[in-house]
Amino acid sequence: MYCSGYMAPEYALEGRFSEKSDVYSFGVLLLEIVSGKKNTKFYDDEQGQNLIAYAWKLWNEENVVKLMDRVICDPKMKAEVIRYAHVGLLCVQEMAKSRPNISTVLSMLSSEIVELPLLTQPAFLASRSASETEPPKRSASKCSVNGVTLTNVEGR
Ligand SMILES: *[C@@H]1O[C@H](CO)[C@@H](O)[C@H](O)[C@H]1NC(C)=O
Repeated sequence: MYCSGYMAPEYALEGRFSEKSDVYSFGVLLLEIVSGKKNTKFYDDEQGQNLIAYAWKLWNEENVVKLMDRVICDPKMKAEVIRYAHVGLLCVQEMAKSRPNISTVLSMLSSEIVELPLLTQPAFLASRSASETEPPKRSASKCSVNGVTLTNVEGR
């Protein structure tokens, strides 16, 4: 079955559309902006993952900053990028009810809401091999923007 890279699974698979389906599409866009890559075009050679699966993998490796578009090279942006990736991943949660509504999303992006909810596994429609992806062992690890350790800080 062909699915647009922006379609929420409940809409693509069951035709059920809600405000949360829009939130899903927004989340895909957000991840694309942060990474500078298109979800439909993105293909990780080693693992054959789509962008969402790749972002989720990096998130669990506590290395989501690697998603950052090379164009955004200001180290001061890193906390922001981590926040945007976190919000993006929240928007693409598999269960529509686990996704925030759009007004909450905007508050999260503008840092009106500082503490972001924990993530569970997002929906990876384009990835057929969901069974091959590892169970989200570290999804409970808490990410606060201030407490994040950045491992691959590049020299200037
Ligand atoms: C969005 O979700 C928040 C938190 O669950 C809730 O307080 C708020 O009323 C919701 N807003 C809309 C417009 O549904």
